Amino acid sequence: SRRYSIAVIPGDGIGKEVMPEGVRVLEAAARRFGFALDLQWHDFASCDYYLKHGEMMPQDWKARIGKVDALFFGAVGWPDTVPDHVSLWGSLLQFRREYDQYVNLRPVRLMPGVPCPLAGRKPGDIDFWVVRENTEGEYSAVGGHMFPGTEREIVMQETVMTRFGVDRVLRYAFDLASKRERGHLTSATKSNGIAITMPFWDQRVEAIAAEFPGVTHDKYHIDILTAQFVLNPQRFDVVVASNLFGDILSDLGPACTGTIGVAPSGNINPDGTHPSLFEPVHGSAPDIAGKGIANPVGQIWSAAMMLEHLGEAEAAAAIMAAIEAVLSTPAGRTGDLGGSANTRDCGKAIAESI
Ligand code: NAD
Ligand code: IPM
Ligand code: MN
Repeated sequence: SRRYSIAVIPGDGIGKEVMPEGVRVLEAAARRFGFALDLQWHDFASCDYYLKHGEMMPQDWKARIGKVDALFFGAVGWPDTVPDHVSLWGSLLQFRREYDQYVNLRPVRLMPGVPCPLAGRKPGDIDFWVVRENTEGEYSAVGGHMFPGTEREIVMQETVMTRFGVDRVLRYAFDLASKRERGHLTSATKSNGIAITMPFWDQRVEAIAAEFPGVTHDKYHIDILTAQFVLNPQRFDVVVASNLFGDILSDLGPACTGTIGVAPSGNINPDGTHPSLFEPVHGSAPDIAGKGIANPVGQIWSAAMMLEHLGEAEAAAAIMAAIEAVLSTPAGRTGDLGGSANTRDCGKAIAESI
């Protein structure tokens, strides 16, 4: 029988509120489609853990997680108590690097019945994937800080791109595009201003494109690309971007569909040498945490991506259908989408619809 072992890590803030809804829906899908879940909850990778232990995760976190099929993650960060770079480099960014999750896969889709902030857009007009490089680029530990506190203070942080790292994420993105109906890839660049790394990125895009003759491709500088997301979202099918550009595009895209609260992601290790991690795109939202009003759909859609990754395509499709059904009425939607549901109402309605 099919059995999946999953590390469940809620994290901070609304991560702790949306995670139970993600798990509720996972369990509903398991019952309906006849597979078993072995869920191991962890309290580390949170700022509460940091306040108790002086570190975000135990030194032996990898052993404690052990051999799992996937990680299901909420959100981390509580800037009032722990600086964001400490909490994030001590948790999520370690998972991405240590598990070599070099693809961050983030779908952007306007759902039926959901009010769109862009005038005149209907479902189908906004339906694309952001493929974000997830282990190198602008997120680098290479740099220095000299003469702190003096007038001669210097800070430097290098963007690191390796041919190995760029080529593998580009190949993943071109391959994804080759399986899509439109078969189109857009590359985010800034080779006019960032004149060493970005021309290299463009050059690798052309090299990898030659391996995928069935895929058309174009490129935009990141500044005008953000404008095109808003003005002409129908142009996009698969958008591949460096770590930082992909981070920005994957908040902007979902915002164009109504809210970042629905956006999911897969931090994927496509080689299968390590487990992949599934989490909403959003953070811990301290401004609404504790109120029970956060949108749980980003967490629930991430559960669907995780099941798809584990080979449970039917269960994943059922979750997506349930999300669409519930989001199509104002009573099913949370406040960020103009609805009246709270976190639990929305999660329960999706679980029941499965
Ligand atoms: P955020 O995503 O937490 O919140 C941005 C805005 O969107 C807030 O107004 C918030 O209320 C709203 N929002 C986010 N998710 C929502 C949801 N599910 N439903 C309704 N509204 C939602 O971003 P931020 O404020 O920049 O960051 C807060 C903390 O989270 C920081 O510590 C940051 O570093 C961290 N963070 C973590 C992750 C992650 O764990 N992957 C991602 C982004 C930010
Ligand atoms: C995301 C988040 C993280 C990132 C932060 C919290 C480090 O914004 O997952 O998009 O920049 O990757
Ligand atoms: Mn982000």
